[in-house]
Formats: sequence, structure tokens, C-alpha cells
Amino acid sequence: MKWRSRQSPSWNLYSTGEIIEQVSTSSVGTFPKQVKIVEVGPRDGLQNEKNIVPTPVKIKLIDMLSEAGLPVIEVTSFVSPKWVPQLADHDEVMKGIQKFPGINYPVLTPNFKGFQAAVAAGAKEVTIFGAASELFTKKNINCSIDESFQRFGEVLKAAQAASMPVRGYVSCVLGCPYEGKISPAKVAEVAKKMYSVGCYEISLGDTIGVGTPGAMKDMLSAVMHEVPVAALAVHCHDTYGQALANTLMALQMGVSVVDSSVAGLGGCPYAQGASGNLATEDLVYMLAGLGIHTGVNLQKLLEAGAFISQALNRRTSSKVAQATCKL
Ligand code: HMG
Ligand code: MG
Repeated sequence: MKWRSRQSPSWNLYSTGEIIEQVSTSSVGTFPKQVKIVEVGPRDGLQNEKNIVPTPVKIKLIDMLSEAGLPVIEVTSFVSPKWVPQLADHDEVMKGIQKFPGINYPVLTPNFKGFQAAVAAGAKEVTIFGAASELFTKKNINCSIDESFQRFGEVLKAAQAASMPVRGYVSCVLGCPYEGKISPAKVAEVAKKMYSVGCYEISLGDTIGVGTPGAMKDMLSAVMHEVPVAALAVHCHDTYGQALANTLMALQMGVSVVDSSVAGLGGCPYAQGASGNLATEDLVYMLAGLGIHTGVNLQKLLEAGAFISQALNRRTSSKVAQATCKL
């Protein structure tokens, strides 16, 4: 499967030159014909667990997600184990997983130290993570927004020298646990900077899941003035039950990359009130209903969700999994 590259001569072209096809449904607007799902459960989900998940469980989960056909699986983070002890086994996880051809396995790297460790563990793609909120940036990565870009610059320079793609997150795009409302203009400013320093894709995170489709529309309209829509992804936490609706709004506005998390796992240890992400099962079900191609096998995905829910001794947050569970 080929996804658009930022080298594309036009925003509306695949790297192959193929024009993006769109699915038109008479009354609800136009959707992309295919959507790339970025599975973030092993990283976003397991970083937030009270009990540290055993490494073999993480590896099995990632292998099951690969089997299910997810094109991108965010594996872990190369952050300080003092800050996120849940992902301190990043080396073992990276080395233990099966790497399926055609699947990307990016990892989070906040600084050059993390980048070096990620490369040593075999990472082929890295992700930097910033925010549109000063206070969240300070709480999450212990620096200001300006300082965060200095650190990202070192990662980008090294990644570019190694021809390694870099993805970028902008958190708090629809609200911040410390600053409250964040203006679309501020989100657009930070997203533009992420794009201009060389990230091929910018994932816009509703970190605490407070957004509504109206807020998503306003925020995306502002960001799309600064960053081509082909380089945007959305990452919706589901705290207020709005993640699927917010994602649908983004799809209608032309976004074709969506982050989600198997079994609806997720949260951020440095964002009070952040709960799980949009469940990948629910996203795949909705996209299939819209006739949008994802390449994901829903049955295998449900099995991966059942596996991790059982391992965590927790009921899945996916409505589709709950509805189809035979228990
Ligand atoms: P710091 O304390 O400012 O860093 O933390 P420092 O450079 O002063 O170094 C302090 C210590 O950390 C030193 O060790 C360094 O070696 C070590 P010591 O001398 O004390 O033994 N260190 C590292 N160790 C391992 N890997 C590294 C690394 N860097 C420094 N890469 C730092 C700065 C960024 C490291 C810290 O704040 C941190 O690790 N933060 C991680 C926060 C995090 O992972 N949050 C969750 C992910 S973000 C998220 O979930 C949101 C998202 O899902 C999108 C959304 O939902 O909106 C992405
Ligand atoms: Mg998140």
C-alpha cells in the first residue's frame, strides 16, 4: 500500500502521481477512499498502565496487530525511564517484535539521546512530540515550546542525515489540562513549525478528549491554511465520548490518516484526565461501513484487543468488541 509522501508535487497527489480517489456519499459529503490507521495502543495505551505490562505481552500484542494488517504500529518510546517506567523495556520490545514487510514501527524520541537509543535498537522511523500549550510542554517534556524545537532540531538533523522519516505530534489541540482552551491559531502556528522543520506528517492530538466536531472543524480549518491536509493526522482521545465524531469530521475535511488504539487503550501520564484513545476496532468498523479501505482485518484486530484486555484484566473500551463479544 502506498501513502502520500511530503515530497509529492501537489497536496492532492500520491507519491506515485495517482490522484487521491474519494468516496462520495450523497448527503454526508466526501471522504477519502482509503485511510491509513496509525495504531498507537502499544505506546499510548501501555504508557499509562498502573501496573507495568510484561515485555512478552507487549511483543505478542504488537505481533498480533501486525497480523491484523495495521500499516503503522507505534511500538514504544525512548524517553526517560524515570518519567515513564512503563516503557523502560523499549530495547527488548523493539528487538523482540516481528517486523512485517510494509509495516512501519515508529517510536517516540523527545531528544537526541532518545534518537540514538532508538536507532541502536533498530528503529527506522521516529516521532517527536510537542504541544500547542506551554504548560503541558513543561509538564510533559520539561521545557518550553521554543526549547522543545531546539531539541527536535537535533533529532531532525540526525534523522535527515540517516534518511529516516520523522513524524510529529502536536498535543492539546482542542484543550489543555493546565491552560484550558487553546486557540486554533496557536495550534496552526506550532503545526506549521513542525512541518517546516521537516516532519512528513503532523498528528494533531486531542490529548484530554474534550473536543467536539465543531471545535475540530475550527481547529483544522486554521491548521489547513498552514499545513497541507495530506500531511495531517488526527489523534483523538475519547474522554468525553467524542473521538469517533471528531474523527469523522476530520475525514470529511480531507484528513486521511487517523491514530487509534486497540481496545481503546490510552492516556498520558502527564495529562490529568486523559483517558483512552479512539478504539481501533470502532474506527475500522465505521470506515468499513463508509466503504473506506484500511487493509485491516477486523476479526484479527478483535483478537488482539481481546488478548490485551485479558492480559490487563480489563473490559475493552471498544464498543464493537463489546457488541461482538460472545461472553
Ligand atoms: P529532563 O529531566 O528535562 O531531561 O527530561 P534531562 O536532559 O535534564 O536529563 C535528565 C535525566 O534523564 C538524565 O539522566 C538523562 O540521561 C535522562 P540522569 O543523569 O538523571 O540519570 N534522559 C533520558 N533517558 C532516557 N531516554 C531519553 C532521555 N533523555 C534524558 N531520551 C525528558 C526530559 C524529555 C527526557 C523527560 O521529560 C521525558 O522523558 N518525558 C517523557 C514524557 C512522555 O513520554 N509523555 C508521554 C508521551 S506524550 C503523549 O502521550 C501525547 C501523545 O499521545 C499525543 C496526544 O495524545 O496529544 C503523543
Ligand atoms: Mg495520546
